[in-house]
Amino acid sequence: MCPAVHDPRERARESLLGIADLGAVGIEEVLTRAEEYARLLDEPRKKFDTLKGRSILLLFFENSTRTRTSFELAGKMMGADVVGFSLSTSSVQKGESLRDTVETATMMGFDALVVRHSSSGAPWRMQAWSNASLINAGDGAHEHPTQALLDALTVRQELGVSRFEGLHLGIVGDIAHSRVSRSTTKLFQMLGAKVTFVAPPTLLPPNLEGFSVDVSHDIDAVLGEFDIIYTIRPQQERIFEALIPNTTEYINRYSLFDWRMAAAREHAIILEAGPLLRGVQMPDAVADSDRNLMNRQVRNGVAVRMAVYERLIGGAA
Ligand code: NCD
Repeated sequence: MCPAVHDPRERARESLLGIADLGAVGIEEVLTRAEEYARLLDEPRKKFDTLKGRSILLLFFENSTRTRTSFELAGKMMGADVVGFSLSTSSVQKGESLRDTVETATMMGFDALVVRHSSSGAPWRMQAWSNASLINAGDGAHEHPTQALLDALTVRQELGVSRFEGLHLGIVGDIAHSRVSRSTTKLFQMLGAKVTFVAPPTLLPPNLEGFSVDVSHDIDAVLGEFDIIYTIRPQQERIFEALIPNTTEYINRYSLFDWRMAAAREHAIILEAGPLLRGVQMPDAVADSDRNLMNRQVRNGVAVRMAVYERLIGGAA
C-alpha cells in the first residue's frame, strides 16, 4: 500500500476562509508583517526562502487576474513551488467532482490550496476533504479575506493609522453581489471603523441584519462624511442588469464624477478591488487621480499574500 503523504484524516493546518477567522489581533499581526513585506518589495531583488520546500496549488474555478497572479508571485518570491490549475484543461471538464479534485491535490502533498470558486461556501466544504491550509481567494458573493487585508494595508499606509476608530468607510455600488464588500466591512468594523452602504435597494443585501451598517440610497447626501470611498463594480456575471432600470441611470446616481467628488473630504481616498469599469464606476479623470489607490492596492496584494503564506505554512513542518 502506498504511504499517504498527507492523510486527510490528520489534523488540518490553519486555514484562512473568512476574515473573522483571524480575529482582530491576527489581522493586525498580518498587516504589520505585510507592511514589512511591502517595504521589501521596493528593493531591487525580491527573493526569500521562508517557504523553501513548501508547495502551493492555485485552484481557480473562476476568472481572475490580480488575485491569482499575486498569489503566484508571492509564493514564488518566498521560495515555494507554486503550481497553477487551469479549469479549462483540468479533469473537471471530464466531470471530475470537486471532492476528487481536492483529494487528488491533497494526496500530492500540497501544503496550501488557494481556492476561488463561484459557489459561496465552497472553500469550507473543501476543507473537510484536505489537511492542507486552505486560503479563500473569493467564494461566490460571500468572502474574499485577502482582499480585505490588502484594502486595510492600503488605508494604514495612506492615512497613517493602525486602528480604524474614527474612520468612516462608504461602500458604493453593487454590494448585494460582492464578496469584497462583505469581507472588507467585517475587517474594517473589527478594527473600529464605521461603515455605510450606498446603493439602490435592489443592490443591497436582501437581509441587512447582522451587518451593523448605516444605509443610504443617495450618495450626494453622505459622500462628504467618508474618509474612504470603496466603489464596487456592477457584478454583471451575478445578474446585475435585471436589478437596475438601466446603466445610464446607475451612472447618473452613483458614479464618482469629478463634480460629485468635489464634495468629498480633502483627504478622502478611493479604493477599488479591480477590475474597474471606467465610465461606469468613475470617469477617467477620477480613476487616474491621486485619490484612487487601486494600483497601490494591487501592489499591496503581493505583500499581504506573502504575510498570509508565512503565517499559515511558513513555520516548521
Ligand atoms: C474582486 C473579486 O473577484 O471579487 N476582484 C479581485 O479579487 N481583484 C472584485 C470584483 O471582481 O469586482
